[in-house]
Amino acid sequence: MAKEMADIGLIGLAVMGQNLVLNMCDHGFTVSVFNRTVSKVDEFLKKEANHKKIIGSHTLREFISSLKKPRKVMLMIKAGDPVDAFIDHILPFLDKGDVIIDGGNSHFPDSQRRYEMLKSKGILFIGTGISGGEEGARHGPSIMPGGNLDAWPHVKPILQSIAARVEGEPCCDWVGEGGAGHYVKMIHNGIEYGDMQLICEAYDLLKKALGFTYPELSKIFQTWNQGELNSYLIEITSKIFTEIDTDKQPLLDKILDVAGQKGTGKWTGINALDMGVPVTLIGEAVFARCLSSLKEERVAVSKVFKGPSEKCMQDKKVFTEAIQHALYASKIISYAQGFMLIRHASEAFKWKLNYGSIALMWRGGCIIRSKFLGKIKEAFTKNPDLKNLLMDDFFKKEIRRTEKNFRLTVSEGIKLGIPLPCFSSALTFFDGYRTERLPAYLLQAQRDFFGAHTYERVDKPRGEFFHTDWSGTGGIVSSSSYNV
Ligand code: 6PG
Repeated sequence: MAKEMADIGLIGLAVMGQNLVLNMCDHGFTVSVFNRTVSKVDEFLKKEANHKKIIGSHTLREFISSLKKPRKVMLMIKAGDPVDAFIDHILPFLDKGDVIIDGGNSHFPDSQRRYEMLKSKGILFIGTGISGGEEGARHGPSIMPGGNLDAWPHVKPILQSIAARVEGEPCCDWVGEGGAGHYVKMIHNGIEYGDMQLICEAYDLLKKALGFTYPELSKIFQTWNQGELNSYLIEITSKIFTEIDTDKQPLLDKILDVAGQKGTGKWTGINALDMGVPVTLIGEAVFARCLSSLKEERVAVSKVFKGPSEKCMQDKKVFTEAIQHALYASKIISYAQGFMLIRHASEAFKWKLNYGSIALMWRGGCIIRSKFLGKIKEAFTKNPDLKNLLMDDFFKKEIRRTEKNFRLTVSEGIKLGIPLPCFSSALTFFDGYRTERLPAYLLQAQRDFFGAHTYERVDKPRGEFFHTDWSGTGGIVSSSSYNV
């Protein structure tokens, strides 16, 4: 009998890799596996002995020769140098037309570089974001593949069948050329940072301003999860509130208030600055984690500045609803900012991204999955060229409905001295974005005063620049020759 060949090979048997293999097997694919520490292959095969569709290899040569052509090799290894090292290792065994898929959290410029390098060798590269953690990988993650379009038909049946589904549609579709897949995953993670921080701020207000207990908070979040805020992160937060430690006390009270981060949110912030797009909320979410890490300094400063002594005088029920509205409005603004950045990147990198399809990919399987993403999908389906989510009829209506409570929540937080970096940056962005004339004209005057940086005039066509000798001691020469 001829030896069975694998539909796809996967390198990297950490939890995500193992779960993806099992997910692929459940969908009828035969998967070949390899791991740098070879003993992991045997352990995995032993543990999953009832899965007849897994082929284990002890050498790369054996692994590659077990794959059907064109070979499809998926890397589920640590992002960064290990990806380049593994690509170098497997390249000598591959033929033109074979496919390499990087499923880690790689930085998109690395994926762009790998795509170009491999293209020049005739190898088809895919850099794909995969979201949903261990559980998602096992039962249906959100998958965001980008890279070499010629590779897509070869991997589409596999990736779409293992992905999460919402209303029959797979949460996996082709994103775009080069580093587009990992770019969209980076934005997903940035938005994840924003969503998480917004939830923390809503919680902090409910607890500090209104004094809710953990069981009450859990109920509030369960209720919120039935409505417009319905999402995975709200659901898990309602469960976190009820977790009890071994000493029968709430586990949350034992967790140190220092947030970790692996860098994907920071990449989003850096990219927003590079592109000049005001993605303020994600930036604040990253800085909130940085601020949390200054634990010792915070402890010292907390002894010096006690903050306002005022108590919250709001009605519990009324203010809880206000906080819910503030969370929802901030979330709308965060996604509006995220999609502004995606639009700029799509134009700058000529990716022709499909915004509705991105929303659909995030609708299920991933960490930011929510009912709300269905509304974003609808908005882009109605108008694929929508410049900003805030200009969609549904979101316009929702912002108008929640605006008063949004303002009330932020001002109450400020009054009570409760830090609300993401709530308040969302509101400030909104107020800036809806302002026809900002004080930037004064700033332009200042720049021209001290540095002859020139300004444009409201009574002259755009693109004509003027300089004033403000102090009477400056010259008439402007500095525009060294403007960037
Ligand atoms: C996902 C998550 C995943 C991971 C984050 C955590 O989509 O499944 O985003 O990629 O949990 O990278 O990031 P931080 O450690 O930076 O919070």
